[in-house]
Amino acid sequence: MAKIIGEGLSFDDVLLVPKYSELESRSEVNLETRFTRKIKLYIPIVSAAMDTVTESSMAIALARAGGIGVIHRFMTINSQVKEVAKVKRSEGLVIEKPYTIEPKIPVSHASEYMDRLGVSGLVVIDYDGRVLGIVTRRDLMFADPNDLVEDVMTSRKDLVVLDEGRNIKDAWELMKQHKLEKIPIVDKEGRLKGLVTAKDILKRKIGGSSTLDSKGRLAVAAAIGVRGDWLERAMALYSVEVDSLVIDVAHAHTRRVIEVLKKLKNEFGDEVQIVAGNIATPEAAEDLISAGADALKVGIGPGYVCTTRIVTGVGVPQLTAVMNIAEVSKLYDIPIIADGGIRSSGDIVKALAAGASTVMLGYILAGTDEAPGRIVVVNGVKSKLYRGMASVQAYINRVSIDGEDPYDLSYYASEGVETYIPYKGSVVDIIKNIVNGIKSGFSYVGARNLKELWENATFIKIAGGAFKETYSKPVKGLQ
Ligand code: XMP
Repeated sequence: MAKIIGEGLSFDDVLLVPKYSELESRSEVNLETRFTRKIKLYIPIVSAAMDTVTESSMAIALARAGGIGVIHRFMTINSQVKEVAKVKRSEGLVIEKPYTIEPKIPVSHASEYMDRLGVSGLVVIDYDGRVLGIVTRRDLMFADPNDLVEDVMTSRKDLVVLDEGRNIKDAWELMKQHKLEKIPIVDKEGRLKGLVTAKDILKRKIGGSSTLDSKGRLAVAAAIGVRGDWLERAMALYSVEVDSLVIDVAHAHTRRVIEVLKKLKNEFGDEVQIVAGNIATPEAAEDLISAGADALKVGIGPGYVCTTRIVTGVGVPQLTAVMNIAEVSKLYDIPIIADGGIRSSGDIVKALAAGASTVMLGYILAGTDEAPGRIVVVNGVKSKLYRGMASVQAYINRVSIDGEDPYDLSYYASEGVETYIPYKGSVVDIIKNIVNGIKSGFSYVGARNLKELWENATFIKIAGGAFKETYSKPVKGLQ
């Protein structure tokens, strides 16, 4: 007969109790952490391996900000390999092929061209690619309609350029010195070789640093399954130097996952870090750690578009799951990723305080420019699709990638749903906002870093009235 083994709590059931603090500002908080045993992050944020959340654009944004993205596996091996390679190849801060214009073009055309491209400046070049100047919206604003670009541009003699081969630090120094927003990179003959913008450099500074591999490229993780072509996929991802493979299954406490994990560790040793998930019990943590997991992903059913608990009756409330698993994982020094159910920076602080080293976010990062998918207008609101990977729609997509026809859905027990969520703009701003919220949370608990948060934090369980007092606010907001 089944027994009741305890009480399960989630983020909304508790609050962190404020503690004596010696911090003078939240800028003193250091959010450094680990994604896996060996991958260090500067912010505790990981993007979900979902087809409406993480492909290369999201992974690049996350790694630049000091977190990491997990490229989803619901595409062909070839496509997933390409997505990883894009992250690895991304120059990051140098726009390799900046938009250009010729000097004899009328300013009215230049203006239209900028509108169409959505940029605020163009590099002016001659027929041989040599830089003649830069023209910006400000130059055009006061120009006579009959003027040509060359009449209003900042010309080469007054232009600050970066010589090819110099680094981003040099570019930043020049920008600060001359108060510039953009600097073209030129070779010895004066030909355009790229463009650096202050905006991009500032964006990268959000979390302090970027997550880089040993060769100085952005780090990236990729998801794999445990059936069919999983080994071929793992090998192909390894060949493009993925930093971490994430065994991404709904229930990871199985013989199959343990076998796959052992095989991967055997194959790759410490060259690729292996994350295993999802789990929700300390027993699962013990077994997966024994099989060689470099990190554990925790969460059965808490996600925004997950219906596992409703469909199957199975799950462990997320805060309790993380706390129980943390007791085991700390003994082995294996990081935990709290995956699912996070709605705010406050939830992130709670998940970390409960023992997680990072959080995996789906809903919060979906709907941004960097998430895959088009913007559509739903009831007059710009929106983007967000769907569970076990939803019917994602299943149809998956089956058709395998070249099959999903003609009969009557036996597919979907454990996820699909929805449109409001379009949110750039993920860079969202991450910035969340990072500030997390740092504030740490400072209320008197913690300068994750170690101190784990030592200092205590939760208070809240009842109905307190729940209302906490969450009934006139403005609905995410973070
Ligand atoms: P959030 O709450 O951040 O959760 O949107 C993201 C996590 O949800 C999980 N996921 C699913 N769980 N059915 C489920 O039960 C699904 O269809 C599904 N799709 C995603 C996944 O762990 C993700 O990181």
